[in-house]
Amino acid sequence: MPVNQPATYPFTAEKLDLSPLYSTLRKEQPLSRIQLPYGEPAWLATRYEDARLVLSDPRFSRNESLRRDEPRMRSFPTPPDALMILDPPEHTRLRRLASKAFTVKRVEDWRPRVERIAAELADGMLTKGTHADLVTDFALPLPISVISALLGVPFEDRGDFHVWAEAFISTTKYTEEEAAKHRASLTAYMAGLIADHRDNPRDDLIGDLVAARDEEDRLSERELQTMLSGILVGGFETTATQITNFVYVLLAHPEQLAALRADLDRIPQAVEELLRFVPLSIGTTFARYALEDVEVGGVTVRAGEPVMVALHSANRDESVFTCPHQLDLERREAAHVAFGAAYTTAWAPRSPGWNCRWPCAPC
Ligand code: HEM
Repeated sequence: MPVNQPATYPFTAEKLDLSPLYSTLRKEQPLSRIQLPYGEPAWLATRYEDARLVLSDPRFSRNESLRRDEPRMRSFPTPPDALMILDPPEHTRLRRLASKAFTVKRVEDWRPRVERIAAELADGMLTKGTHADLVTDFALPLPISVISALLGVPFEDRGDFHVWAEAFISTTKYTEEEAAKHRASLTAYMAGLIADHRDNPRDDLIGDLVAARDEEDRLSERELQTMLSGILVGGFETTATQITNFVYVLLAHPEQLAALRADLDRIPQAVEELLRFVPLSIGTTFARYALEDVEVGGVTVRAGEPVMVALHSANRDESVFTCPHQLDLERREAAHVAFGAAYTTAWAPRSPGWNCRWPCAPC
């Protein structure tokens, strides 16, 4: 592929397989030119180390996207006040405030409620028998129910919630006018929820966010609305998609599934491997703009140029993961980047003596 000729992106792929182009790019051209459906051409980083660099180095900015024709999958740009468009120190401030509502204790308190919702949905599927549908009966209602309950959304409003969240994500389901209308409805709904919490304070996630403050600051009304919409939109489709994909991948690996069923304590480790192995989508993260010239993968990215990161490709980097194209629910090496660069697992760094159990390639 000529260096300056942007390739049409995303690359096509079969089901959950990654395009074989990624392996070639990681080897031969770790930073290549791409053109998404909307916005200006960009660089694409496909290797693990480069992914972490672009996502965590302060010489790369998300906020610069506001002044540019951001490369993107959808016609509309990222909302100007979304968490995902901020740089430090604003981003750090909001994340710090939000984390006060997502303490380990809060999450642990939620565990039995989430387990109960999941068990009820699974029971419903068992009752339906062969008519049960994993997507509509479990994968979609689980995150919508959990996030709605977290936010205190009444049960009867959850259908609307679902539609509004999809309007942020789907590239095909709604016209531009419909999607804009749904996004405005979600914002108005969130404003109502917040106002109700201010009038009737209660001990839940929104109550925590309303109260969250550091020494001199608290979340503004607008920041709160955006944060709540971000939690709904960020948490809904991702979780629904990956529940379905993970089940598919497990069924396609019956021996590993049987071993997992025989030892349920291994589920947390298995989830980490599924996060590494199963691409969330065929696309990339949001664009990062270089604020100065930065060398990435042997290429100088000029100040003002956007770089996209292929997380699924980074998670299959041969220099980091042994037999990366093999699902191995017992794998314990290097932290995957399925959630971006900020998330780390307890996995140990790859050790040279790690023995691959699979006959796929010389390790
Ligand atoms: C399988 C599940 C999930 C996956 C694979 C996933 C993946 C990601 C990735 C890759 C990013 C960073 C994108 C970038 O840097 O360009 C991100 C950001 C984010 N996700 Fe998720 N996510 C998942 C579930 C959730 C859930 C359940 C929530 C909330 C309830 C959530 C809320 C967010 C938020 C608020 C951000 C923006 C964070 C920030 O800018 O600091 N995600 N997610």
